[in-house]
Order: sequence, then structure tokens, then C-alpha cells
Amino acid sequence: MPNIEGLSLTELYTSEKKGNDETGDGTREKPFKTILQAMRHAGKEPFPAIYVDSKDEHTEYDIAAKSQLKKIQKIWVRENYKAADKAKTEEESQEKRLQNLEEAKKIVITKDESLPEPKIVKIVEAGEHRGERLCIKGWVHRLRRQGRALAFLSLRDGTGFLQCILQGVLCQTYNALVLSTESSVIVYGKLRPVLEGKTAPGGHELVVDYWELIGLAPPGGADSILNEEALPDVQLDNRHIMIRGENTSKVLRARALVTRAFREHFESRRYTEVTPPTLVQTHNEEAYLTQSSQLYLESCIAALGDVYCISQSYRAEQSRTRRHLAEYSHVEAECPFINFDDLLNRPQKPFKRMMYSEAIEYLREHNITKEDGSFYEFGEDIPEMPERKMTDAIGVPILLCKFPAAIKSFYMAKSPEDRRLTDSVDLLMPGVGEIVGGSLRIWDYDELMEVYKGEGIDPSPYYWYTDQRKFGSVPHGGYGLGLERFLCWLLDRYHIREVCLYPRFLERCTP
Ligand code: 4AD
Repeated sequence: MPNIEGLSLTELYTSEKKGNDETGDGTREKPFKTILQAMRHAGKEPFPAIYVDSKDEHTEYDIAAKSQLKKIQKIWVRENYKAADKAKTEEESQEKRLQNLEEAKKIVITKDESLPEPKIVKIVEAGEHRGERLCIKGWVHRLRRQGRALAFLSLRDGTGFLQCILQGVLCQTYNALVLSTESSVIVYGKLRPVLEGKTAPGGHELVVDYWELIGLAPPGGADSILNEEALPDVQLDNRHIMIRGENTSKVLRARALVTRAFREHFESRRYTEVTPPTLVQTHNEEAYLTQSSQLYLESCIAALGDVYCISQSYRAEQSRTRRHLAEYSHVEAECPFINFDDLLNRPQKPFKRMMYSEAIEYLREHNITKEDGSFYEFGEDIPEMPERKMTDAIGVPILLCKFPAAIKSFYMAKSPEDRRLTDSVDLLMPGVGEIVGGSLRIWDYDELMEVYKGEGIDPSPYYWYTDQRKFGSVPHGGYGLGLERFLCWLLDRYHIREVCLYPRFLERCTP
């Protein structure tokens, strides 16, 4: 008999042997496992005829014995009573809640005008105003209600966290009852040191005498769309909420500090900051996003001397890895009149130096091979995996130097002692891999023209780059550091997306 959902059957089948209470539908073909489930399915008495496995091996089903049905019917009745009771209690408590909320609407709190005028401060400055009446604006980071007349609220304003205490009617208003984390509020009250034996951020707490709800958040706050177990893509879709969390906001703050430290480093050495365009034209008509600001920085050294920029660079990475972004912050610098040693000597010593040729030897000696088991040969690019294995094993930062010209960019200067090599360097960090790439640049006009030709590059759109070699060329060089990779290393983060505000990589361009 075909079963149509919603229609009651005149017969219901059960089978201990092949039935299933979850997936069965009570038909002969898809029986339930238990009689109780058949009764639940029927929903009311009188029940249709209920069949069970036959004891006779030649027939499939037999009608269930009356005594058996009676026993199970009792369980079914009890189950129904319980369910009805539960529904009633739930209904009552929901009603009570609505009633409470209605009543709470009658409770109105007002500013006590006899109190001293509050001082508007940020949480970070609160400590300077203990004992004073303050007004602080922020978001509810945490909320703990204790009975009807006490609530602890952890307020966040981007500069810190502050414990606030709401007492009496202040936590009985309608707004207090519906208040959820992530709502925005303004609180007024006196700041006092925490009671002995208690702790709170800054060692103080605000005893609130008046507060206002500015913007309510959904019940549950951030948890309503995001929790600890959320999958990576759900977390990324909700990164705008995620950044409100303690860890993520700390990382963003550290990023701001590190960016500032880079600026201070360059400023203290009299580098000039420039802002090159990131929209570039390498051929006629079509514009592209830049991979590096280096060529523009090179064009600035004759005007400004040592220069740097902190700009976005773009890479069409074809896979999702934990160190590749499609858009990243590139810290780049360029200096006139330097040689290869000057370039390497810039970071604080000692940094281990290793030649590209030594790295090839290292891989061979330590049996780090390609997937097919063969060794990397001189002249081949060392991919990320073997490079990282080596860097992690050596365990200190490495300046990997002198890559073969054939595997590096066209602009890199050839090494005077061996013109198959370039005066190039990558800085490798344990745990992260390459974080800096740099080199001396070709500064001889004829040599650059030759390289264009060899690489099949049309020199015409690069006229401005070439002109540097005509108008007072000098030996020069520089480097680019991936800010996010540096942060991964510094903050010991596993994945590069953790240190981005809104990371961009394959198939990820929101929020
Ligand atoms: O080694 P790269 O490609 O060097 C350059 O672009 C030079 N023109 C820089 C210069 O000399 N001014 O990139 C430099 C650094 C890398 O070491 C890495 O830290 C970072 O940029 N980087 C990336 N970071 C995140 N995601 C990516 N897809 C990256 N590609 C490079």
C-alpha cells in the first residue's frame, strides 16, 4: 500500500528484525521497529491493526497479540501525559516571561540630577579617575545576571574592558531584561577599586547609577551566529563579528603596532615614505593590480634617497595554503649606492647566511627529495615544502643568497664572481618560511635592454623604469617583506588568514 504522508493507514507494520523507528513509515515494505512507534505514528485511539513479525516462517507478519498491545498502550498513554505536562509548563513559563516583560516596561529609570556631572572617558583612561562619576560608552562584552537585582556587565570600548555593576531597578527594566551581549550601551556611575579578594580588569569597577541602551543585539549576541566549533568558512563569513572577540582584536591591535614599528624603523633611518599606485599597466590598455611596488620605489631613489612603502600587493595564487593570500600588505624598501653586503648587513646580526648552492647540497645530504624521490638539482627552484623542512630543521633565520638568474626576476643584478647567479636574497624564518625577498637590481642600461630581450619583455611600457638607467644610474637594491607572514612568525599564528582584517584568497572576497 503506498503511504502518503499525513494520511493514516488502516494497517501499521512493525518488525523487530528489519524495521526502523527513524526511517520506517509503518508500511509493509518499511515497517517500524517497535509497536510504541506505530502507536505514536497513529497518534490517537482507536489504533489501526498493528502487525508484528510472524512466528511462522512461511508468513511475514501476524497481527500483534492483544496482551502485548495493552502493555505497550500503557507506556504510550504515560508518554502522552508527560508530553502534555511539559508543553503546559513551557507555555506557562513563556507566559510568565511575557508578563514579566510587560510589567518591566512600567519600570522607568531616570538620571539623578543631584549627582555630579559625569566625565566622559574611554576605558583605558578610567584608572586616572577612580572615585569620580564617569560616563562610558561601549558594547556589552559579557553579561552575568545574579538573581533579580544584580547583574555584572563587562563593557568593551575598543580601548579596554571594564566591569560594571547594575543593582536593583537598574537590572529590572525592560531593556535590562532583554539586554544581550554585543548590544551598545552608555553607562554612568562611580568608579571604585574592586572589593578585597575580587579581580576585574584594571582592578576597578563601575557602580552604575544610570544606563541607556543604544542598540540592541539579537539574543545570544555573537553566539547567535558564531561559536567556537564554527567551521573555518562560517568563521570567515562572520569575520565582522569575529573581530569583536578578545583574541582576534588583540591580533589586529598587534598588527597596528607592528606596522607603526616598521614606520618608526624607517623614519629613524631617514627613509622617506612614498605611496605608489597599485593599479598598473604592463601592456597597452589593460590595467592590472600590482605584485610589488619595487619598480616605482626604484624610480624614487634619485629624488628622495632611501625610500619605503607599506602598500597592498596582489598575487594570483591558485591554491589555498596557510601562507598565501591574494592580497597582502607589502613592506618594501629601496636604497641607492649599496652593494650586496650592505643589503645583507641591514638586519641585526647574526643572521645565518647560506648560498642557494649550499641549500641544494643540504637537501641532498638530508634526503629531502621531490615527490618522485629524486633530488633537487642546481638551477631548479626550491619549492615551499622542502624549503620549510630545511628552515625548520636548521631552526634559525636564514639569509638564503645567490639564486640562479634563470629562476629569478628579470631585474636582478648578476653576481660579479659568477654571472649565472644573482645578488639576491630570501629571508627564511623557522615555522613560516620565506618572509622577505630582496636583491640588487640591474643598473646598467645595456644589460637591462638585453634582459628585456631575453625574457621577451616589450620595453616600451617600461620606459620610465629604463630611464633610471639613463639619467644618472647607480648601483642599488632593496627588499620586500610580507607583513602577514612576518606577523604569523611574530605572533605564532598557524594560518596567515588569522592576521588579516578581511583575508582575500582563492574564492574568498567577502566580507
Ligand atoms: O619574494 P617576492 O615575490 O618579492 C618581490 O615582490 C620583490 N619585488 C620585493 C622587493 O624586492 N621590493 O615577495 C616578497 C615577500 C615574500 O617574501 C613574502 O613574504 C610576501 O612578499 N609574499 C606573500 N605574502 C602573502 N601572500 C602571498 N601570496 C605572498 N607572495 C609573496
